[in-house]
Amino acid sequence: MEEITTKSHVLVLPFPVQGHINPMVQFSKRLASRGNKVTLITIDSISKSMPMDSNSIKIESIPHDESPPNSIDIFLEWFFALISNNLREIVKKLSDSEYPVKVLVFDSVAPWAIDLAHELGIKGAAFFTQSCSLSAIYYHLDPEISNITLDGSAVSLPSLPLLEKEDLPSFVYDSDSYPSLVRLVFSQNINFKKADWLFFNTFDVLEEVVDWMRTQYPIKTIGPTIPSMYLDKRLKDDKEYGSSLIKPNGETCLKWLDLKENGSVVYVSFGSLASLGEKQMEELAFGLIMSNSYFLWVVRTSEENKLPNEFKSKLSEKGLIVNWSPQLDVLAHKSVGCFFTHCGWNSTLEALSLGVPMVCMPQWTDQPTNAKFISDVWRTGIRVKAGKDSVITREEVASSIKEVMEEEKGVMLKENAIKWKQLAKEAVDEGGSSDKNIEEFLSNL
Ligand code: UDX
Repeated sequence: MEEITTKSHVLVLPFPVQGHINPMVQFSKRLASRGNKVTLITIDSISKSMPMDSNSIKIESIPHDESPPNSIDIFLEWFFALISNNLREIVKKLSDSEYPVKVLVFDSVAPWAIDLAHELGIKGAAFFTQSCSLSAIYYHLDPEISNITLDGSAVSLPSLPLLEKEDLPSFVYDSDSYPSLVRLVFSQNINFKKADWLFFNTFDVLEEVVDWMRTQYPIKTIGPTIPSMYLDKRLKDDKEYGSSLIKPNGETCLKWLDLKENGSVVYVSFGSLASLGEKQMEELAFGLIMSNSYFLWVVRTSEENKLPNEFKSKLSEKGLIVNWSPQLDVLAHKSVGCFFTHCGWNSTLEALSLGVPMVCMPQWTDQPTNAKFISDVWRTGIRVKAGKDSVITREEVASSIKEVMEEEKGVMLKENAIKWKQLAKEAVDEGGSSDKNIEEFLSNL
């Protein structure tokens, strides 16, 4: 591999939520490990709870007087205005002759950043933290240009499985609940026409649609962005995964797991944003108790008050509740036999890359589509079926866990999961498809 002679300064702008920060920080570490200077741009209220174990990555944090708005619509406008008002100054301040600022790697949900980058004389790379299949769906169904009529029947799109209504991203049918988020997800299509690079946190063989997208745009797969110590032995020093905005109850989780038998625990998590209704929380809680397995359940502080009292008294040795876990360490633990997941894209990739079968209980955005792939394409998991009022009953929770943990189907899911684990590793190993794409990007800077 040709050595790079001139080092670059790369600016990285993630949208400030956990599921976007983790993959973009991991990508930054990879760039920094090749001798480049990397600066992450964020705002004070995020950077103050953002640990960074890498000396080679600096954080440039924008101060703000008022607290970030709670409403998502107002927050989006507020955050993007803060960044765009300060980016010019930041680029000027950080440019030096030894490490010239060459490129802004921006979150694909901020497509306006490309115009700003070009105005400042630097290149712009859009980083998609979602699957390539999802981006293809948004591309084909963009309300501004699409002539596909959505009438509730299955949709057939190039290089994608037939998608029933329940497999499509929630924003396709429900555009009223979160209008600004819906605009945001479709606005990502602007990147295809304007960005100098298009990076996807996925790997070539995982998604058939990657090849189709490549016939349209020069996209590059660079994933999975899982730390070296789990996948790629070259980068042994990389201990922290991404940058966790919530401090995990690491020791409690791992000590508890150490005492359990191999493959006997179900790990349950709904990521950093999803919020279950009270009734659903109750059904899930009693479903976990009814299953024959131990369970480690991440219930964020904001969700804790939904746990039924009767459930807490039944927990005893069978279950452990924590507010946040070191998810990769948990998934990599020998005691974990299954991941009961909301199917966020990072959680999906993490489970695939560590060979853990899944029970899918998608909530919104891209999660139904990810669940479709897990259950029907990669076949590393099963999807729970909703009962009356769209609630997943306790019986359904318990029987789904049983199917994965105890039945023949579970053995097949595990075998497939191990196969994907190997393929993920090959993609990021030296000379693998994702590794080559990153090296090519660096040598082109
Ligand atoms: C969101 C969306 O749901 C997701 O689908 C989208 O693609 C990115 O943004 P989130 O819902 O938080 O993210 O889920 P996910 O994508 O799975 O990201 C959560 C991250 O937090 C993962 O990297 C996971 O490892 C980490 N995590 C989660 C922990 O470290 N500890 C926990 O206890 C739970």
